[in-house]
Amino acid sequence: MPRYSIEEILHPWSKRIRPYPPGKPIEEVERELGRTAIKLASNENPLGPSPKALEAIQKSLAGIHRYPDGAGHYLRRRLAELHELDMDQIILGAGSTDLIELAAKTFLNAGDEGITSESAFYIYRLAIEGMGAGLALAPMRDMRFDLAAIARAVTPRTKVIYLGNPNNPTGTMFTASELDRFLDAIPSRLLVVLDEAYYDYVGRPDYSHSLKYVHEGRNVLVLRTFSKVHGLAGLRIGYGSGHGELIAALNRVRSPFNANMLAQAAALAALDDREHVLGSVESNARGMKFLTEELALTGVRYTPSVGNFLLVDTGRDCEEDFVRLLHEGVIVRPMKLYGFPAAIRVTVGLEREIEQFLEALRHIAAAPVKAGKN
Ligand SMILES: Cc1ncc(COP(=O)(O)O)c(C=O)c1O
Repeated sequence: MPRYSIEEILHPWSKRIRPYPPGKPIEEVERELGRTAIKLASNENPLGPSPKALEAIQKSLAGIHRYPDGAGHYLRRRLAELHELDMDQIILGAGSTDLIELAAKTFLNAGDEGITSESAFYIYRLAIEGMGAGLALAPMRDMRFDLAAIARAVTPRTKVIYLGNPNNPTGTMFTASELDRFLDAIPSRLLVVLDEAYYDYVGRPDYSHSLKYVHEGRNVLVLRTFSKVHGLAGLRIGYGSGHGELIAALNRVRSPFNANMLAQAAALAALDDREHVLGSVESNARGMKFLTEELALTGVRYTPSVGNFLLVDTGRDCEEDFVRLLHEGVIVRPMKLYGFPAAIRVTVGLEREIEQFLEALRHIAAAPVKAGKN
């Protein structure tokens, strides 16, 4: 037994934090249940990675005894070129989660405040709470970020605001002009972290012109990731764009080798595989149409989504549904943590995966819950 309790040296605020429960890995489910499973739990790309990314990884493998390029030169250069920014306006992260946390680490401390919305991506609040800062959770309106409520929640202590567009798990978005109005309404000293993890999936013309803010030198950090449409979630690579002073501040706190060698090589190749991106977006659009039409036919309610996932309101206990779907070989996510105790979130998979999900959903809806089971 240790002679001292870890409690004595813990930050008091860390005791209040409820950790993020990630999606259950397929291998774990298959081991536990002794059956094959499909994973529709983490909004991954069902088509997998770009073949060009795989090729780039193969080519880099022999060099992994070396540290990666801590400055991420080639990837940042390509991203800067694509977005017509300077290289010093781009920062790489081990996924965008890394950059969500880095923003908090750079700007927040006990006594400061960060704001996000009630049913926003959970990592935002973890980032704020992890720094011991005060967390303000603005209510949502019609399942969307209520930007006016967020603006009203600003206090002299507020430093950082996290916005997901589209938001996970609701799949809803705000428009470019709504964000324009919001940015004009809040004090310009505030940092707005604008998380656009699902950027490529959103087909709407009134969606984001986020990089315009970066060009204008506003205090906005735009986050994108290679985990979703590029299919590289396991490699952990994302990036942020912002004005030079902001990126320099983040770089002071960034862990020097946060973007690993294989991830940098794969991301660089994936960026130029437009065929894979477009194919993934089209496959998602087809899958979303199929999924939502089928759900509507059976009278199951859902929140219309512009992403690659759907919040499905089953009207039953989501933890029970989660377990029962697991037994059917389908991994989804229960949404109680996000304030939806009767909803699950399902990723838009391949057609046969969607069919399996729908079949499993019909099955569990038809079969009564056995007392003492699960
Ligand atoms: C809104 C949102 N932001 C960020 C992420 C995390 O992405 P990454 O894998 O780049 O850390 C996710 C992943 O589910 C997400 O839904």
